[in-house]
Amino acid sequence: MHEIVHAVPQDWAASAHVDIDDYHSLYRRSVEDPAGFWAEQAQRLDWIKPFTVVKNTSFAPGAVSIRWFEDGTLNVAANCLDRHLETRGDKVAILWEGDDPSESRAITYRELHAEVCRFANVLKKLGVEKGDRVTIYLPMIPEAAMAMLACARIGAIHSVVFGGFSPDSLAGRIGDCHSTLVITADEGLRGGKKVPLKHNTDLALAKTIGDEKVLVIRRTGAEVAMHAGRDYWYHEVSAEVSADCPPAEMNAEDPLFILYTSGSTGRPKGVLHTTAGYLLHAAMTHEIVFDLKEDDIFWCTADVGWVTGHTYIVYGPLANGATSVMFEGVPNYPSNSRFWQVVDKHKVTIFHTAPTAIRALMQSGDEPVKVASRASLRLLGSVGEPINPEAWEWYYRVVGDGRCPIVDTWWQTETGGVLITPFPGATPLKPGSASWPFFGVQPGIVDSEGRLLEGACEGNLVLLDSWPGQMRTVYGDHERFEQTYFSAYKNMYFTGDGCRRDADGYYWITGRVDDVINVSGHRMGTAEVESALVAHQNVSEAAVVGYPHDIKGQGIYAYVTLMAGVEPSDALRKELVGWVRKEIGPIASPDLVQFAPGLPKTRSGKIMRRILRKIAEDEFSALGDISTLADPAVVEDLIANRQNRR
Ligand code: WT7
Repeated sequence: MHEIVHAVPQDWAASAHVDIDDYHSLYRRSVEDPAGFWAEQAQRLDWIKPFTVVKNTSFAPGAVSIRWFEDGTLNVAANCLDRHLETRGDKVAILWEGDDPSESRAITYRELHAEVCRFANVLKKLGVEKGDRVTIYLPMIPEAAMAMLACARIGAIHSVVFGGFSPDSLAGRIGDCHSTLVITADEGLRGGKKVPLKHNTDLALAKTIGDEKVLVIRRTGAEVAMHAGRDYWYHEVSAEVSADCPPAEMNAEDPLFILYTSGSTGRPKGVLHTTAGYLLHAAMTHEIVFDLKEDDIFWCTADVGWVTGHTYIVYGPLANGATSVMFEGVPNYPSNSRFWQVVDKHKVTIFHTAPTAIRALMQSGDEPVKVASRASLRLLGSVGEPINPEAWEWYYRVVGDGRCPIVDTWWQTETGGVLITPFPGATPLKPGSASWPFFGVQPGIVDSEGRLLEGACEGNLVLLDSWPGQMRTVYGDHERFEQTYFSAYKNMYFTGDGCRRDADGYYWITGRVDDVINVSGHRMGTAEVESALVAHQNVSEAAVVGYPHDIKGQGIYAYVTLMAGVEPSDALRKELVGWVRKEIGPIASPDLVQFAPGLPKTRSGKIMRRILRKIAEDEFSALGDISTLADPAVVEDLIANRQNRR
């Protein structure tokens, strides 16, 4: 196959922060002298007390420990707000676009600073102290960013929970880190539909220990139940506090936030990020990967409920004094032109979204794109899942009119910020490849025995040394942290992704190699969906796998064995889908449910997921060896009743 390569445009090579020579020299320096390199880069931040130690990290079995700049002190909110006041006080920090196209708000750095200080005083008034956990369950409104920054200002640890999660999922996350305060809104608004966030919070709090307070932001004005002594309106409490709140002096390694993410097994893990390393990585990647310039209008379409929203809507852009667009709505409301109309309305210059959105919009053709000029755009980004070359080319040719480079950025909740990416002024672009390691990042590809492979190869992606934005631990469970990321391959961080490196040294992420599936760029543990299914009274056993889905990237395929005497039916299938939606949230809804009288198991009772994956992919001619199955006959029934016929 002939490989397409888009050369670096000349003006980009000349004007970008990093050109090809810079890339090679800086990269070499970053891995040969990490302490020197990162000490220099850390000057991007304003320190209260400068650090003397740069890097103190170990991936050694049983002794994994990650510390950066460990004796320095600083405050994240001061870095995102106070230090810009003198030079950028009147610059727009957050450019908010409502779900309804007639609603928008421009908040300057000065205004954001004042509101965050006020918000921080509200938190204090409700008893929140340094080190306390605060759960944030909000729609995409500026108050979500304000709440995060207010926590950072007083040293509280935020845990943002995506507004699409169910009351049960919310309760689990509040309980796991013992949050003492939940910040929510009366309702959210997405695509013209209302999301009952306060009501969901009430349901969640019926399942927690019960000492939490609730702070409610008024968004839609809907009437909601307020429990005296537990629930407080933000607008009422904030009227009683001052807009003066000095930032707390935080150690570089004090926790900044927890963000729950799905893994292969068990319940979601609380990924813990700390103060200095995370912020440095967020700021630096945001500037260099997106080639940020002072006048850019940067729009990342993620939700703040995911790490992409944390790093590239809030912390990276604000640390850099940029204008960050925050969008409450969805790509297809009121029409499929919405993204491009918002681009024109706010003169967006850098646009960053997920492949699933591109694929969905691509389906309705070029017309909805062409109604907008998109003349302001100069750079496009992609994140969250592999982007297929067809979608890449459409994004490049139609959305970007062939003049905007695309940065396909690979990273994870655990990595804090981008680790593998093209550099727009340096990297000839290969559609579908995340390309090159960021500074200080040392990727490796290992075979199944853990041997590092050289040159062009394919295997599992590992990282050989630490970087400042790396997660520090699983909240409350350091052993699980070591077990999950450092036990597969000795002295290496295992990403869970498969990867190919080509002869030019480009990295091509091939997708998860564990029991994690990536649905529309959202990470889902198959075990979580399985445990939701078996909690249904009619289900005796369930096995969930991913399968290729044209728009979502991967869809959720559930094999369900019913209790004896329960008859399979379409109505029951529907009920089970609705059940999972209610248990976890809409993002976990199975796309296909197959009733299976038996699952393929080894004689020791282990489900052979490889076979289930193949059948779900409609590739059952290549099932491999099934002779070790306890009952090979179940496979015939599974094939005969498969739900995905392509
Ligand atoms: C997983 C991490 C990156 C923040 C949002 C998702 C997949 C992410 C890419 C990409 C191919 C990608 C990986 C990764 N992924 N970006 N550019 N190309 N795959 O964060 O929810 O923690 O998921 O998303 O499989 O492991 P996340």
